[in-house]
Amino acid sequence: MILNASGCLDALTAPEVAALLDVFVTKTVTPLPREGNEPVRIAETDVGMLNSIGLANPGIDRFRKDVLPRLAELERPIWASVGGFCAEDYADLCKQLDPEPVVEAIELNVSCPNVAEPAESVAELVAAARGATSKKLYAKLSPASGDIASVATAAAEAGADGLSLVNTIRGLALDAETLAPTLSTATGGLSGPALRPIALAAVFACFKATGLPIVGMGGVESGRHALELIAVGARAFALGTILFSDPEAPGRIRSELAAEAEALGFENPFDAHAIAHGDEAPAPLRYVA
Ligand SMILES: Cc1cc2nc3c(=O)[nH]c(=O)nc-3n(C[C@H](O)[C@H](O)[C@H](O)COP(=O)(O)O)c2cc1C
Repeated sequence: MILNASGCLDALTAPEVAALLDVFVTKTVTPLPREGNEPVRIAETDVGMLNSIGLANPGIDRFRKDVLPRLAELERPIWASVGGFCAEDYADLCKQLDPEPVVEAIELNVSCPNVAEPAESVAELVAAARGATSKKLYAKLSPASGDIASVATAAAEAGADGLSLVNTIRGLALDAETLAPTLSTATGGLSGPALRPIALAAVFACFKATGLPIVGMGGVESGRHALELIAVGARAFALGTILFSDPEAPGRIRSELAAEAEALGFENPFDAHAIAHGDEAPAPLRYVA
């Protein structure tokens, strides 16, 4: 299953790209509208991209009224990404999305800037969301936690049905001539190729710890990259930064993945699921259909 990474595709302006995906994931929506940060909000580095968008979004009311009805026209399952600053925000956002038939699952962005992420607080946010909806809940974690497997376990125990791994990691880029920070916020989230080994390690550790279904992401640019995420435990994968330079990536990567898997003797790429764990693959905690 191929998804887009939250915030990396506007399905309303590029429906032809969304049509190449199995699921469309929205940009993170917050309780109130947000303008986001001042420009400059994007910087390129030689190993990926930095962004400090600052969760610009229309807020949950306009999202429900104006955005969701238009996303319904895509005729794709929609996962809504939500983010807030306290447990009540997550409960409120999930309560509001619960009656929306278009929303198949909710991704909890518990790794956005300004939301602390010790295991306790992730558990608290997931538990608040769990109490507010019966929809599938995916917890999206930061790769920056010292012990991401403990955070994943806390999320699983609080009622997450799955995990989205990983979000960006803090980085900084300097202007070539002035040596001043390029982004208006100085630091931002690093995505793209630099995240690949970090994402592999996170998926490996979290799958081993929880057995939960995992959407793997972080620098996927080819079928081989996707296959490696599957091998360490991902059940699906998402494309983020690559969509900015190659909008046709979903189709290309889907066929590359099939060819890569076949060359290694797998009839179906997902037969390689968790193969990197050898005999130590955990028993599934629970599966989401
Ligand atoms: C421009 C941009 C905006 C993003 N916005 C969000 C967001 O709103 N919510 C979120 O959970 N992740 C957001 N992300 C993180 C991505 O969903 C993804 O976790 C990350 O970029 C790693 O995948 P990639 O290396 O394939 O891009 C954003 C990433 C980028 C590059």
